[in-house]
Amino acid sequence: MSGNTDDSKPVDIDVGQPIWDRFFHVAPLVLVGTLDENGKADLAPKHMVMPMGWQNYFGFVCTPRHATCANVERSGVFTVSYPRPAQVLETSLSASPRQVDGDKPIVDYLPTQKAREVDGVVIDGAYLYLECRHLKTVDGFGDNCLIAGTIVSAYGDSRFLRASEFDDQDLIRQSPLFAYLAPGRFATIGDTNAFPFPAEMKK
Ligand SMILES: Cc1cc2nc3c(=O)[nH]c(=O)nc-3n(C[C@H](O)[C@H](O)[C@H](O)COP(=O)(O)O)c2cc1C
Repeated sequence: MSGNTDDSKPVDIDVGQPIWDRFFHVAPLVLVGTLDENGKADLAPKHMVMPMGWQNYFGFVCTPRHATCANVERSGVFTVSYPRPAQVLETSLSASPRQVDGDKPIVDYLPTQKAREVDGVVIDGAYLYLECRHLKTVDGFGDNCLIAGTIVSAYGDSRFLRASEFDDQDLIRQSPLFAYLAPGRFATIGDTNAFPFPAEMKK
């Protein structure tokens, strides 16, 4: 029950406050990997992430208060790991608060492997990996900035990669995806439908 007398009439949402906790929206959830100034690995979950267009660019929203932001500025690279649904716990733990000395010891316990093309790490067992060179940071979204990179390497579990001889619906059913339902819920997506594109649509 919405408490509304007329459910079809939109209810105002106060834009004097951040609106994003007032409703759910579907987002990806990835782990962004960087190295700190001592070369120590850092991983942090991000859901405000997206392809930057149809070519090989990737962007995520971050705050300069997070180590990830300074690490990218300094090192000029970052990695992106797309976790499987079963990795929800380690994905969450990588957001553990830093200690007073600035350390985030949980990262030492997360199983990682060296990135292939850039200096960095990715988490073990993810289904898709991107390695990026920092392209630009756009400031000015309140406290946040958009960090964009060029994808210089991409690899993943073949069971998650599309193939002409394999039906897309079966692929996702057999290798389900992780969806973050911001704020604070998640879902495993296995059942999907083909999108009804209009005839002759062009990208
Ligand atoms: C599910 C989830 C999603 C998150 N999404 C974002 C995000 O999109 N952008 C962001 O700046 N922080 C996000 N965070 C918070 C950071 O990942 C978290 O504060 C992290 O510890 C920062 O680590 P760092 O200091 O190593 O960069 C998210 C946290 C969680 C648990």
